[in-house]
Amino acid sequence: MTIAIIVHGGAWDIPAEDHQAHMDGCRAAMMAGYDVLRNGGTALDAIERAIVMMEDDPIFDAGIGSHLNRAGVVQLDAGVMDGSTLQVGALAAVERLQNPIRVARHLLTSAHNMMVGPGADAYAAAHGFELCDPKKLVVEREVERWKLAKKETPTAGDEFGEIVRGAKPGTVGAVALDRMGNIVAGTSTGGTLYKPVGRVGDSPLPGCGYFADNALGGVSTTGHGESIIRIQLARVAADFCSRLYAPAAAQAAISMLGDRVGGLGGLIVLDHAGRVGFAHNTPHMAHAYLTEAMNAPVVGIE
Ligand code: GLY
Repeated sequence: MTIAIIVHGGAWDIPAEDHQAHMDGCRAAMMAGYDVLRNGGTALDAIERAIVMMEDDPIFDAGIGSHLNRAGVVQLDAGVMDGSTLQVGALAAVERLQNPIRVARHLLTSAHNMMVGPGADAYAAAHGFELCDPKKLVVEREVERWKLAKKETPTAGDEFGEIVRGAKPGTVGAVALDRMGNIVAGTSTGGTLYKPVGRVGDSPLPGCGYFADNALGGVSTTGHGESIIRIQLARVAADFCSRLYAPAAAQAAISMLGDRVGGLGGLIVLDHAGRVGFAHNTPHMAHAYLTEAMNAPVVGIE
């Protein structure tokens, strides 16, 4: 069986001065995941390694460097799905985990699918995961963005105003296919800039922020979560894989996001045969991929 991995670092209007850092971060994470696969590792290990690297890279809106919510606090969401078992693990609105994808992975084999808020942080601690000081997740760039958002948002009740809709959802995600033919997809995010406390987007929801089924393929999405949830973008894209190659499935799904709900975002797709595809209707989406059939990795932002 062939091996393949694709990662994304968020779909939005990425400032020119940040393009290289986004592409470098995607490339490094993708190559780390590919090394896992090349050495006979599982797709689950590969996507965890890739996503942890992006959570640790402050350029992305995941883990360290995430957007701040209205209270000036980072609240993280993450999810993972195993295409061989259809098991799901997800966390939402956690504040004390630098790498929520690790705990999401742990939940795959637990009795539960999703944990939220302080209960999820406590669950993680009880299962041996280190809790971090929430301040460790905050970077100066995001404090400046938060101050601007606070100034520009007309009222505290303007929950879906332009500042939120036009926020910078630099969510990260990865999908991998391993030698055993298993596909795994995962996504991690700090959500949207200046989101209301407790707001949760698409990223931790299976079928919305991610989806995997060995019979179809795997998908990770990014963009305006409220729109993505309405059409269950990841599940829609995976369903398209039953009759389209991954690039066409990705394009069909992003067209549906725009046409049906006017949503902005992007997605990566890896179909059951190991073909990769991606699409976005935002100006940019950082991405990187490599399959055994390719001579060199592809890294891009357009
Ligand atoms: N797509 C990330 C979010 O809306 O939270």
